[in-house]
Amino acid sequence: MNQSPKDSALRIVAGFSALLILSLLGIGGLSWISQAAETSAEHPAAHEEKAEVKEKEAAGKEEECCKAGDTTPPLDLVQRVPLGQLHSPYQDYAKLAKEHELVKDFRLPGCNECHGGTGGGGFCPALTQGVWFWGNTDDVLFRLVTLGSADLEKSGFERIQYGTVHAGMPKMGFAVKTSDDLWKIIAFIRSINPPGSNPPEKVVPGRMHQ
Ligand code: HEC
Repeated sequence: MNQSPKDSALRIVAGFSALLILSLLGIGGLSWISQAAETSAEHPAAHEEKAEVKEKEAAGKEEECCKAGDTTPPLDLVQRVPLGQLHSPYQDYAKLAKEHELVKDFRLPGCNECHGGTGGGGFCPALTQGVWFWGNTDDVLFRLVTLGSADLEKSGFERIQYGTVHAGMPKMGFAVKTSDDLWKIIAFIRSINPPGSNPPEKVVPGRMHQ
């Protein structure tokens, strides 16, 4: 029989394909075995998945908790939202500061009486200095202003440092009507700590009791 070069080429291809299929089957078999081994020891992974779901649920609540225009009194919001999960709806504080005379929101509950007319310091610490006694996240600032230093500490936070004045921040949650008002006041505080001059972009997380 005459074998044309075309025939033998075809055979070689067929041979290779067979080898390829066999080896794929082999790999498939191996990974099936290793998968079976994993599922039999899978409890930790299953736990992780559950933790992830919980995290996602918590993230959902986060978004719910802090919307612009929220009329919830700040004292209620700090009770309702788990520690660490208050987030300002005004992340672009610089834009808000341009559109809105935020200093008025700051003066309305009387913050200026202690911290100065524009927050630059009176007989209490300047809010322009980029030094944060309890941390500077949205969550910490919202709780500090609402609860005051003493109750903030009772709620689980620890002081990071003292300012020049060794006095506590009073509980101002009674004086600030809505959470939206307080987010605007916090946007004001951020706007007088512009990036670069003091480092408000440097996150100082709250410190919790052990
Ligand atoms: C009676 C005086 C007084 C009033 C009124 C007052 N504060 Fe304070 N504030 C303080 C004192 C004192 C501290 C330092 C607290 C500490 O070290 O625990 C402080 C601390 C702060 C801090 C933390 C500053 C830092 O560098 O960590 C912020 C933010 C703040 N106040 C915002 C406000 C806002 C907003 C208002 C108005 C709603 C307000 N304060 C009203 C006295 C006051």
